[in-house]
This record gives sequence, C-alpha cells and structure tokens, in this order.
Amino acid sequence: MVEIAPGAVPSPNIWNSPRVYEIENRAVDPDGALESAMRAIRPWDGATVLDLGCGTGFHLPMFARDAAKVVGVEPHSGLAAAARRRVADIPNVTVRVGAAQALPLPDASIDVVHVRWAYFFGPGCEPGLAELDRVVRRGGAIFIIDNDATRSTFGGWFRRGLPSYDPGAVERFWTRRGFAREPLMIRWSFESREDLAAVLRIEFPEELAAEFLREHEGCEVDYAVNMWWHRLP
Ligand SMILES: C[S@@+](CC[C@H](N)C(=O)[O-])C[C@H]1O[C@@H](n2cnc3c(N)ncnc32)[C@H](O)[C@@H]1O
Repeated sequence: MVEIAPGAVPSPNIWNSPRVYEIENRAVDPDGALESAMRAIRPWDGATVLDLGCGTGFHLPMFARDAAKVVGVEPHSGLAAAARRRVADIPNVTVRVGAAQALPLPDASIDVVHVRWAYFFGPGCEPGLAELDRVVRRGGAIFIIDNDATRSTFGGWFRRGLPSYDPGAVERFWTRRGFAREPLMIRWSFESREDLAAVLRIEFPEELAAEFLREHEGCEVDYAVNMWWHRLP
C-alpha cells in the first residue's frame, strides 16, 4: 500500500509512469550542463548532499561518487522504495520518506541541496524554504532546477500546456528570497521517436502531446531551465 507524506504536490508523470519517467531522466541533459553549473558554484566533494523530491533516486548515484553522504527524501513511499533499490549497493546513500515541509533531518546537517522539478515551483513553497533554512549549514548551497517557460522548444510547450503560468511572478518570488538565477540551455536526447512520444504523453494532455510530436522532427528537443541558487555565508 503506497503512502504519501502530507503536503506532497501530485506528480502524475512519475507517480503513475515511473518507467517512462526513467526514459525521460535518461534523455535529460546528456552533456551534464546542470551538474557542471552546480559544481562551479558549490562542489560537494566530501559533503553531505540532500536530493529533495528524489523520485526513484535517478540522481543519487551521481552525487554519491564525490559526496561523503547523500540523503534522498521523497514523499511517495513506492518511489522511495524504488530509490532504495537503486542505491542498495552504494553505502553512503540513504533514502527517507518525507516532504519538503517537514524534513526528516536534523538541524544544520546538510551542505548541498538539489531539487529538480519538485515542489519548489515559486509562490506557495515558503514552508519548504523554512525547512531548508533549518537543515542547511553555513557554507552550504541550495539548487532548485525548474523550467524556463520564456524560451526554447520545451519552454513553448510548457506555456501551451499551462497558459496561466507566470514566469515573472516566479522570478520575483525567488529574487525576493535571495536566490540568483542561472539560465541554462539543456536538451532532451531520446533514442527513438517512440520514447519521445511516450514522454510527451506523461508530461502533457494527449492532444497537445500529439500536436507537439507532429510539429517537431527528430529525437532532440532544446530545453531551457532556470537553476535558482542560494549560497549561505
Ligand atoms: C517530476 S518528479 C522529479 C523527481 C526527481 N527529482 C527526478 O528528477 O527524477 C517530482 C517529485 O517531487 C516529489 N514531491 C512532490 N511534492 C513534494 C514535496 N512536498 N516535498 C518533496 N518532494 C515532493 C514527487 O513525489 C516526485 O517524486
């Protein structure tokens, strides 16, 4: 029986289709632009990393290579179990069930926080930010990775899927809270059109997914993201 920690934002893409989401994760950013951008700001060698909203733990092994310790926190107990299976042979990783608004972690215990397309979507995520203030220690850094709806092929699709989205309000939210914006251009790179089609269908309503597929050739999609980041003194 799956349990979901209170405060979780419904995430039908990965909750309902974790296998297709795995295909999506494998296609995201094959050039490692996100990892390089984070490392340039705050490397995690010997540090304790929190991957918040870690889903099935796709990113945990990458952090575990250089970190002393990695903690994945995920509100969906089924996904947390999948993340635990993924890292079963990696001794410096643990996975906890929990949500951003009530982190199952001690005060001042984390150096680097990575949050990718999870909960921190701008206005409304203040309780999670208060929890990060509590658990991140001096010299630490917080990285929030989200879509940049103002540019790129994917950004255009995102706006068409969610016309009420207000990128200006999201930017004002993060700026007021002392986060800097690092605009990055990454890409989706799929092995086949079938994989692209399957991922579009978990990210968008059926009709829009079909339209995007008709409009777009090939297996590559340019994808703009904002990496919002904050470094503690
Ligand atoms: C789109 S998925 C991304 C998963 C993972 N970050 C990745 O890149 O593979 C969003 C994740 O955020 C989690 N989530 C939803 N609400 C959350 C909350 N309040 N606190 C932490 N994580 C949350 C979901 O359960 C889901 O696993």
